[in-house]
This record gives sequence, structure tokens and C-alpha cells, in this order.
Amino acid sequence: MKREIQKPEGKLGILTPGMGAVATTLMAGVIASRKGLAQPIGSLSQMGTIRLGKRTEKRNPLIKDFVPLASLDDIVFGGWDLFTDNAYETAMKAGVLDKHQIEEIKDELINIKPMKAVYDHKHLVNLTPNNIKEGATKMDLAKQLMEDIENFKKANNCSRIVVLWCGSTEVYTKASAVHQSLKSLEEGLKNNDAEIPPSMIYAYAAVKLGYPYINGAPNLSCDVPAIVELAHETNTPIFGKDFKSGQTLMKTILAPGLRARLIGLDGWFSTNILGNRDGEVLDDPGSFRTKEVSKSGVLDDILEPQLHPELYANTYHKIRIEYYPPRGDFKESWDNLDIFGWMGYKMQIKINFSCRDSILAAPLALDLAIFMDLAKRAGLRGIQEWLSFYCKSPQTAQGLPAQNDLFKQLEKFENTLRFLEGEDLITHLGLDYYENELLA
Ligand SMILES: NC(=O)c1ccc[n+]([C@@H]2O[C@H](COP(=O)([O-])OP(=O)(O)OC[C@H]3O[C@@H](n4cnc5c(N)ncnc54)[C@H](O)[C@@H]3O)[C@@H](O)[C@H]2O)c1
Repeated sequence: MKREIQKPEGKLGILTPGMGAVATTLMAGVIASRKGLAQPIGSLSQMGTIRLGKRTEKRNPLIKDFVPLASLDDIVFGGWDLFTDNAYETAMKAGVLDKHQIEEIKDELINIKPMKAVYDHKHLVNLTPNNIKEGATKMDLAKQLMEDIENFKKANNCSRIVVLWCGSTEVYTKASAVHQSLKSLEEGLKNNDAEIPPSMIYAYAAVKLGYPYINGAPNLSCDVPAIVELAHETNTPIFGKDFKSGQTLMKTILAPGLRARLIGLDGWFSTNILGNRDGEVLDDPGSFRTKEVSKSGVLDDILEPQLHPELYANTYHKIRIEYYPPRGDFKESWDNLDIFGWMGYKMQIKINFSCRDSILAAPLALDLAIFMDLAKRAGLRGIQEWLSFYCKSPQTAQGLPAQNDLFKQLEKFENTLRFLEGEDLITHLGLDYYENELLA
């Protein structure tokens, strides 16, 4: 049965805590696309198609014609940052896009000015900010953020808001007592509990107001029981963590193939160099630890060593990130895989990926914002696991293992869209084929 989905009428405000390389590349790409100056390549919401029904029916509409999505023309951007630079200045400094391309949309970018940010040195050490809020308590800061959001919505005549964390990776924090219930989190906000990082204050503010919240970085943010509880209370979709853009994308493409063919894996060594501000932040061991945890979970889930200990129980997985300023946003990664096959004979695979970090992340950020807005209008709430396709470390209900295989994630994503529109789910296992074609 088709679900009731509110139409995407009016403007959609996308507010990003963190207006750095990824956020400004997202903004520039959307503005350039709607002016016909560029194409939103890599975005399923803009260019993807979806198969419906049987293969023979040949129904493959664009996803944006199948489900009611916000149009790029209706998106308005805003955000917060620790620095006062507007989106034009940041895009120029980030060095992701060609300067002439940024100049073509200067008038729009220059008007996207960061609001004052919520900052805590304990949770982010490598930057020295000049644009931060003052507040007696963390609850007071959350209220200021809520005011910012509502003021932005009114000033820009938006009918809907999505908040998308594009801020730096915070220092590694494990979920503790204060994060376990909404009551304890609210008490902690009032008592300035040190375990509540800024990203969680943004998440609290957005979800309290009923606006979808997405976490593009690996820090906890909305991935704690307290925010999940709030999301259920306010009927709000939440999701994270960490855009699955470069090296981990490659890992979750390749590992399912090795696992499918039962090729053994002795070890997987991944290293990369990057020189943007993200790299500078990750040079701090606390922030690196957060990233390392987010990147390392993917292999176990895909390889299932508990089912095949002879192939995967001793897989040595090592991840390194090196800050190397000359590279800027042009990240380069190297992977070495020590594999073994028939009768235990050893082989190696090498991957050398020269990528542009923010070019890979921007379409994921756009799709997450657009599909989370759809989720809200379709009456979905809580953790939106069907969007795992976009994240390195997908958020799941407590105790549930994440699904990291990119192809299973895509299937779940597409089937959720089919479910919303009352179409048959596609499992590639049509019973009529077995009964009428295959059986003698
Ligand atoms: N491919 C990618 O680029 C990629 C992939 C996955 C995840 N990420 C994550 O996305 C995030 C953004 O990446 P980026 O390359 O744009 O980094 P960036 O350093 O260019 O931008 C991050 C911005 O966040 C701001 N910031 C930090 N704390 C803030 C706070 N409390 N409030 C408001 N602003 C705050 C910083 O001042 C900075 O301008 C990082 O956490 C990164 O790890 C990026």
C-alpha cells in the first residue's frame, strides 16, 4: 500500500553546523547545477533511476520522478562555523573547486554567512576559533541554536528544515551515563556535563524542534540513546555517521566480492595522505581515534569471520591517516591486501586512489539531506537505517549489527523507496521463475 507523503511544497532550508570544504562544495554544486553550470554527478536523488516491477516491464523512472523530493531550486543554505568566513571565502581557501567556477556563483555564496558556533576545546583541539557563542550552560547554548534555526526558517521563508553536521571530527568520546536517556541528557545540558560534545548540542536542538538531523562525521552526535528517544518523542528522523566517500567506499565495494568468492584475507593495510583542514583536525590523536573506529568496523560485518574462521578470523586490519599539507583536498590513498586462494596460495591486491575528498562527499551530503526531508514528510522517525548506503559507520538500533556491504545497502535503500510508494519489493527471487521456468 502506498504511504501518505506530504508534498515538498515551499523552501527547504539545509543548515550545516560546519561550513568547511564539504559544506561549501555541496552549496556550490547545488547553486551551479540549478544555474545549468554543472551536473550533480554522484547524486542518486538527482540522477539515479530505480527499477520497478519485473525486468520485462522495463519501468525505470528517475528516483526524483518516483518519490516526491525537494527540488534543487527550492533549497536555501545556511550554517554555523567556528570561523567568520562566508561560503565564498571558505570555498576559495578550501581549494576544492576551480577559482573561476567559484567566481561564477560568487553572489550567492557570499551571502551564506556562518552563524556563531557552539564550541568546546575539550572536544576539538587543533583549531583556534573566532566565531563562537557565549552561554552559561549547554542548555542555554542549545536554546540559542533553536532560536537560530527558527529565525533562519522565518527569514528565508522555509517550510522545512534539515540540519546536516559537516563540522570537524570531534575527539573520541564513548557513550556514557549522561547519554543514556533524554532525562539524563537534559540534566547534563543544564549542568554543563563535560561528556556532551558540541555536535550533540546541535543534534538536540534540531531534533527537539522536530527537524531531521544527519551526522556526516564519525563523532557520537545523534548516535546515543537519549537523542534516539527524543527523535521518537518528536517524530523526527535521525541518521549518521560519517560520509562513506573514498577509501572506505572502495573497501565496501571490494570486500563483498572477496567474501562472495570465499577468497581468504590475511591482512588489509590502508593508508592515506590529505592536507585540508579535516586532515589538520585528524592529526590530533583524539580526533583520529574517532575516525579510526568509524573506518575499522566495516570489514568484520562484511567478511563474517565467525562463519568462516579459516578465511577471516586472523585478518589484520590497519588504518593510517597522515596530515600532509601540500596535498590540500586531493587525498591519495594506498591499500595493500594480502589474500589467499585455492590450497592456500597467497596473492596481493594494491589500490592507489587519487581522489578529491569533498567532490566525493558533496553528493552524499545532498542526498542525505533530500532523503531525510522525504523521511520526515513520509512520517518516518528515529534511526533511518535504509540510508546506510551513504555512511561509513551506519547508525543502528542498540545491539543491532550494522550492514556495511554497499550492494546490500543499495538494495535496502531502493526497497524502502518502493515500500513508500506501494510498489513490490525486488528481491531477485521471483517464485514464478522457480515454479514455471526452472523446475522440470
Ligand atoms: N570526503 C570527505 O571529505 C569526508 C568524508 C567523510 C567524513 N567527512 C567528515 O566531514 C566533516 C567535514 O569535512 P570537511 O572536509 O568539510 O572539513 P573542514 O575542516 O573543511 O570543515 C569543517 C568545518 O567545521 C567547523 N567546525 C568544527 N566544529 C564546529 C562546531 N562545533 N560548530 C560549527 N562549526 C564547526 C570548522 O571550523 C570547519 O570549518 C569532517 O568531520 C570530516 O571528517 C568528510
